[in-house]
Amino acid sequence: MRLVLLGPPGAGKGTQAHRLADYYGLRLIATGDMFRTHVRGETPLGLKAKSYMEAGELVPDDVVIGMLLSELDKARNGWILDGFPRTIPQAQALEEALADRESPLQAALKFKIPDEITIARLAGRRTCMRCQRTYSVEIKPPKLEGICDACGGVLEQRADDQVETVRHRLDVYHRESEPLEKFYWDRGLLREVEAVGEVEEVTHRATEVLDDLLSTE
Ligand code: AP5
Repeated sequence: MRLVLLGPPGAGKGTQAHRLADYYGLRLIATGDMFRTHVRGETPLGLKAKSYMEAGELVPDDVVIGMLLSELDKARNGWILDGFPRTIPQAQALEEALADRESPLQAALKFKIPDEITIARLAGRRTCMRCQRTYSVEIKPPKLEGICDACGGVLEQRADDQVETVRHRLDVYHRESEPLEKFYWDRGLLREVEAVGEVEEVTHRATEVLDDLLSTE
């Protein structure tokens, strides 16, 4: 399966991407995680991306597209993209690259959620600085406060999860990324899932939509 996930910051894309990748045996490519790894490693790419990310702005298209396309070549047996595309030029670049590879996109799955819920979720998110696993101080706290259950790394609040930055990320999302819904609707690829509810419940809704899609192909 070749799938992109759409939805605002805090919709649960990362949470669901891991669960769907496991369920369908797909490679997960998450541009936000890739950038954070580069920022921590202080690579040239990380140094370019850092200031945009901390301000809640999008990293420029040319930087993101180059990184994404080289990663896509490593994923032969199907993939999920979390965080890409985020602009129409990114979606067009992906479409062209997939046409060249004769492996078109099968669906764009949009997670629907009101802004106010995502703001509350992101205020409570804690992220492992080592393995990027995420926790929620309310619904999914770690066993030991401030420590990752999986790898023992330190949990911190992401710099861009401060409320004011989250509000700005939402503005950027509505302006730059929401037009992707029409882009994929016009191509018959848009599918929607209600993202409010228990994590397991949202996964169940997503797999129902995707199983249905697979059964008709
Ligand atoms: P990125 O890391 O992709 O951030 P995002 O899209 O803003 O998404 P988030 O990670 O904030 O939220 P999510 O939807 O994944 O939610 P999660 O599952 O964690 O990008 C960061 C930055 O990188 C961008 O701002 C930009 O600068 C740059 N960037 C990345 N890609 C780019 C691109 N293509 N072009 C340009 N720039 C790019 O869940 C959130 C919280 O809610 C967690 O605590 C979780 O435990 C909790 N939660 C999840 N599901 C539920 C549920 N059902 N109920 C209750 N709580 C839940």
